[in-house]
Amino acid sequence: MRMILLGPPGAGKGTQAKSISNKFSIPHISTGDIFRKNISEKTPLGIEAKKHIDKGHLVPDKLTIDIIKDRLNNEDCKNGFLLDGYPRTVNQGEALKALLEEDGNSLDIALLIKVPRKFILNRMTGRRVCLSCGASYHITFNPSKVEGKCDVCGCDLVQRADDTEDTVNERIDVYEAQTQPLIKYYDDKNLLSAVDGTLEINEVFESICGILESIKK
Ligand code: AP5
Ligand code: MG
Ligand code: ZN
Repeated sequence: MRMILLGPPGAGKGTQAKSISNKFSIPHISTGDIFRKNISEKTPLGIEAKKHIDKGHLVPDKLTIDIIKDRLNNEDCKNGFLLDGYPRTVNQGEALKALLEEDGNSLDIALLIKVPRKFILNRMTGRRVCLSCGASYHITFNPSKVEGKCDVCGCDLVQRADDTEDTVNERIDVYEAQTQPLIKYYDDKNLLSAVDGTLEINEVFESICGILESIKK
C-alpha cells in the first residue's frame, strides 16, 4: 500500500503513522523526523532546514523533494510506504506522482486527519517527543509509561523547538495557505479519504483501519 497522511500540525499524523506502519507492515517516513535528526546531528541539511523550521515555514521544495526521492529508492519501499508530512505543496505532490510513475506505480490513498484549529494548541504545547525513534506523547492525552522516557526505546523525551504558541500559529497559517490545496488535488483524483481526528487516539485508529482494510492491496 502506498499512502500519504494529510492534516494540520497536531492532527495526530505521527501518532497514527506509528500504529499504521506496525499493522500494515509499511515503512513510516516522516520528513519532519528526517529534518529533526539532521538538525540534532548538525548536518548541512539540518543547518539549512532549521532556519525555516524554527520560523514555522516550509523547507524549500527542492531540498524536500530530493530527500523523498532518495528515501523512496530504498528497498523497504518497494511494496509500499506511509508518508507523514509529505507532500505539503502541490508541487511536492506532482513530484511524488512523477517519481512513482517512473516505476509504473501510483498512490493508493491520501488520508486526511481532520482537526479544527481550536484543538491544536493544547495538543502541541503538551506534546513530548523522542528524537531517537520519533514517537510522540502528550502529558495528558497520551502519557509515556515512565515520565520523560520513551516507551519504545527508553530515550529521553523532549519538547520540540517549534511547539511554542507563536510558531504553532504560524505553522497552521502555512498549512492553510500551502498544504490545504492538496485536499482538493487528491479529491479530484478520487484518492482522498477523511477521518475525524478529534476522537480518542484509538478511535481515530479504528476509523483509519476500516478505510485501509477496504482498499488493501
Ligand atoms: P512535521 O514534523 O511534519 O510537523 P507538522 O506537520 O506540523 O505536524 P506535527 O508533527 O506537529 O503533528 P502530527 O500531526 O504529527 O501530530 P502528533 O501525532 O505528534 O514538520 C515540522 C516542520 O518540518 C514543518 O513545520 C516544516 O518546517 C518542515 N517540513 C516537514 N515536512 C516538510 C515538507 N514536506 N516540506 C517542507 N517542509 C517540511 O500529535 C500531536 C500531539 O497531540 C501529541 O502530543 C499527541 O500525543 C497528541 N494527540 C494525537 N492524537 C490525539 C488525539 N486523537 N486526541 C488527543 N491528543 C492527540
Ligand atoms: Mg508529526
Ligand atoms: Zn523512542
